Amino acid sequence: MSVLEIRDLHVTVETDEGTTPILNGVTLTIRTGETHAIMGPNGSGKSTLAYTIAGHPKYTVTGGSITLDGEDVLEMTVDERARAGLFLAMQYPVEIPGVTVTNFLRTAKTAIDGEAPSIRTWTKDVTSAMKNLRMDGKFAQRNVNEGFSGGEKKRHEILQLELLRPRIAVLDETDSGLDVDALKIVSEGVNRAKEATDLGVLLITHYTRILNYIKPDFVHVLVRGRVAEEGGPELADRLEREGYDRFLEPVADADA
Ligand SMILES: Nc1ncnc2c1ncn2[C@@H]1O[C@H](COP(=O)(O)OP(=O)(O)OP(=O)(O)O)[C@@H](O)[C@H]1O
Ligand SMILES: [Mg+2]
Repeated sequence: MSVLEIRDLHVTVETDEGTTPILNGVTLTIRTGETHAIMGPNGSGKSTLAYTIAGHPKYTVTGGSITLDGEDVLEMTVDERARAGLFLAMQYPVEIPGVTVTNFLRTAKTAIDGEAPSIRTWTKDVTSAMKNLRMDGKFAQRNVNEGFSGGEKKRHEILQLELLRPRIAVLDETDSGLDVDALKIVSEGVNRAKEATDLGVLLITHYTRILNYIKPDFVHVLVRGRVAEEGGPELADRLEREGYDRFLEPVADADA
């Protein structure tokens, strides 16, 4: 079993207005085999949390800690984090011109395992993972995310998840922009990964629809860079019904 522990995490980002605090003390524990949903209004810091776990250089940790099985994640480089078993499916996957999907996947797999996968099993694994995700074989020879539709980019993120076999996966709005069939296909990919490797999942989403397919054990509400409430799946239903009003202070009256 592995455990990712986020303790009282404070994160800032440099903006035109100077150093801006985004996360103001986030505490979360994710164990392998568990699925945690993170919900919250736009701009509450969900992607910032995801990027900080992955090691994006734009985000500065000013307090708190992130550990994986007691090892200090914040001391690790981005690739060390990936090798340690952390994975991020980005909200907006980036295009990598000049790098084909097949080369990208093989290079990533080799870097993570420390040795190249055997050609025969690897080709078989890639082909069957693409088939499961209903991705046309032609994607293997296309450049990563270049000209991919929104939904194709999301499938490609889950293709990586299935092939790289991390211990803890952060999925940042993997459901956004997916049609009903694609949502099901992508969810099945995540569930396969969960079954195959006892994966721990941190699922960032705005919608309960994906939670019908990928059942969360815990739901956390992130508001203004803090976990404002935690509960089980029923909390997601309540948020869908009521929105986030009760977490947000009323906007100050301009005349007051
Ligand atoms: N690199 C950056 N430069 C400037 N501001 C940033 C940067 N990254 C994040 N922010 C700000 O931090 C806040 C939180 O952003 P973040 O992307 O983490 O929100 P989010 O909860 O993922 O929102 P959404 O639901 O819209 O995806 C926002 O106000 C955003 O403008
Ligand atoms: Mg976001």
